[in-house]
Amino acid sequence: MKEHQIISWEQYKATYKHSIEAPEVFWADIADSFKWHKKWDKVLSWDFKKPSVQWFEGAKLNITENCLDRHLATRGDKVAILWEPNNPNEEVVRLTYKQLHQKVGQFANVLKRNGAKKGDRICIYMPMVPELAIAVLACARIGAIHSVVFAGFSANSLADRINDATCSLVLTADGSFRGNKIIDLKIIVDEALARCTSVKKVIVLKRTGTPVTMQVNRDVWWQEELEKVAHNCMAEVMDAEDMLFVLYTSGSTGKPKGVVHTIAGYMVYTYYSFINVFGYSEEDVYWCTADIGWITGHSYIIYGPLLAGATTIMFEGIPTWPDAGRFWAICDKHQVNQFYTAPTAIRALMAKGLKYVNSYKLDTLKVLGSVGEPINEEAWHWYDEHIGKKNCPIVDTWWQTETGGIQISAIPHVTKLKPTYASLPLPGIVPCLVNNEGEELHDNEVEGLLCIKFPWPSMIRTIYGDHERCRLTYFSAFDNKYFTGDGCRRDADGFYRIIGRVDDVINVSGHRMGTAEVENAINEHPNVVESAVVGYPHAIKGQGIYAFIITNNPVNNIEAFTQAVLQVVNKAIGPIAKPDKIQVVTGLPKTRSGKIMRRILRKIASGDISNLGDTSTLLDPSVVEAIKKGAGLIA
Ligand code: WT7
Repeated sequence: MKEHQIISWEQYKATYKHSIEAPEVFWADIADSFKWHKKWDKVLSWDFKKPSVQWFEGAKLNITENCLDRHLATRGDKVAILWEPNNPNEEVVRLTYKQLHQKVGQFANVLKRNGAKKGDRICIYMPMVPELAIAVLACARIGAIHSVVFAGFSANSLADRINDATCSLVLTADGSFRGNKIIDLKIIVDEALARCTSVKKVIVLKRTGTPVTMQVNRDVWWQEELEKVAHNCMAEVMDAEDMLFVLYTSGSTGKPKGVVHTIAGYMVYTYYSFINVFGYSEEDVYWCTADIGWITGHSYIIYGPLLAGATTIMFEGIPTWPDAGRFWAICDKHQVNQFYTAPTAIRALMAKGLKYVNSYKLDTLKVLGSVGEPINEEAWHWYDEHIGKKNCPIVDTWWQTETGGIQISAIPHVTKLKPTYASLPLPGIVPCLVNNEGEELHDNEVEGLLCIKFPWPSMIRTIYGDHERCRLTYFSAFDNKYFTGDGCRRDADGFYRIIGRVDDVINVSGHRMGTAEVENAINEHPNVVESAVVGYPHAIKGQGIYAFIITNNPVNNIEAFTQAVLQVVNKAIGPIAKPDKIQVVTGLPKTRSGKIMRRILRKIASGDISNLGDTSTLLDPSVVEAIKKGAGLIA
């Protein structure tokens, strides 16, 4: 057991109470476990109006000394990163804390050699290989700000993100293995860089052996660079509130926003939430199946686990290759104790049948986690019975890119388990529900908009380059509260159940997508006049993408048109944004002021057309009748 781990219900209640009554004392006590070059002058100052939030102001540190150096004396030979390749026949890689420390130092020197310095933004567009984690940590080692872009995004999306943060370096690989496919990452990077002027160097890892063109004076080989530098790199001493990373996420307007996290608060919170939510103990092997391109990978593959001195698994492949038993094979192979995945993966594997589960023992599992979207009752029970053998608490963890770490979750063997409930706030987190008028709902058994009314250490500090957008999006809807964008229910016990987004953001397979972003992409097709995108219930993905499209010229070949639309979306955003259903329509339901009534489209998309609610404000009600008839629908 680790210090600061909560192990009983009584202790949770007392700790929670203390964390709310004396937050600065509470967080300072946890922060005391770390290595600091200088301790803070002030634990917290905040003003949600601006917003301005500072944790551990005045403190000096480097997060990688806490992830790596701090463990060398006690856990130097313990495995830090256990890498499972895409192909199960390829060799597993085990990096001990000592080795990881060396590799991070060495690559940090490569970054420096290629001109990187403190404060620079470095874009990382890589497969799930150990070098990705090494790259992230090497950036932090030299005080550069990493911006990891999920390697499933298109060249366009990558270019937008590189330009938004004016990155000077890009770290990538020749290609990436995903099941039986190879994705040519370097070619995508080359295409993106045609639109980026800030990038001076590209460091390319050889992974797939895919032929690539190397641009003279810009592109260098990762492996060759390593040979030119020393293994040791002194950590840059950073301020507590210096930026650690930017990570892009979708909002209700078209352009993705660069969520900014700063060093010290993020460090303290990801550590604390990790050890508590997963009940991690020293000998455990922990596995989070997320990609490091998302916040879950940042906080709970890299930072949280390494800060806790854990063994963290990185998996390069996909859950269905070579077959749908891959997750369970890996659990047995590496004797996994904590397993953390998304409901969409559970539903997809559930649909393949028990034959892919039953040949595995799964007897080392202790805690199962869920993240990214509401977990439905059926998936919860399947996970509980067939994976956890009714012996592993399920922690349904609610949080967001912006929150940096898990906010609402059960604690194993502490919190009563209720299927589909994220359950209770972790210490230090003060959620509340408000109605549309912004009045706080104090009772239990109510439904409202989920807000958080006190700062926590890993909260968003700003949107890169656009602080006003940060204020408007999260801090302007309700006075003195952070607004999450989620609807939520609180039951008689005070347990929270997340219902889903209340804004124009949809959640497809646990990936957040702005409907406006997808619409902008669709509108690039020359025959599209206007489009409206909504989410609809999808058995595996949670939500599917339904696009209503008005065209210039009549569509003769609906199949060809659909394929062309999917292509433009694929090119603008990436495969994860491709609509599942497309319907060509002659008009969209709009109010007299020209606003699309998405509520009506959502009902139609979900097949619930019997009662469309109040349509009296519609400019032209006949439009709805036409859409309901389903002309031009592609299944
Ligand atoms: C949105 C945040 C941070 C985790 C990965 C997604 C939804 C997240 C849950 C959960 C119900 C959840 C919310 C949230 N969400 N976890 N356990 N139960 N909904 O991060 O891409 O920033 O998306 O995901 O709607 O607002 P993200």
